Amino acid sequence: MKVIIASDHGGFNLKASVVAALKGKGVEITDFGPDTADSVDYPDYARPVADKVASGEFDRGILVCGTGIGMSISANKVKGIRCALVHDTFSARATRAHNNSNMLAMGERVIGPGLAQDIVDVWLSTEYEGGRHEQRVCKIEE
Ligand code: RB5
Repeated sequence: MKVIIASDHGGFNLKASVVAALKGKGVEITDFGPDTADSVDYPDYARPVADKVASGEFDRGILVCGTGIGMSISANKVKGIRCALVHDTFSARATRAHNNSNMLAMGERVIGPGLAQDIVDVWLSTEYEGGRHEQRVCKIEE
């Protein structure tokens, strides 16, 4: 699975901890940036990362800002993206199983690195259930 991640300044440190943890587990992770904690505008990172997931260049995308809200709103403007704003492991599992989410957004000012890593692990490892959920996901795309 090819995963891409980005943040703004508000999510810079949490992004770094997620990248380090995933690399340690052998996950193929590409850090789209930014490379410093200087102030940036989150749509400038959400849009290109969402485009790369929507095009199939990457299987999954992770976005981190202060709250996760601006990133998730921005990513969901891109057709084919189902970006879930998640701050608990129950929702991480449910959004994969039910929504087939292909992007995950989190807020560094909301949760710590330990919970964030658990969320990422659950989100990356949970399969989409399909079945009764498929027609609902199709309606999102329509
Ligand atoms: C940046 O200050 C902050 O607004 C951003 O990281 C994010 O929380 C927006 O939704």
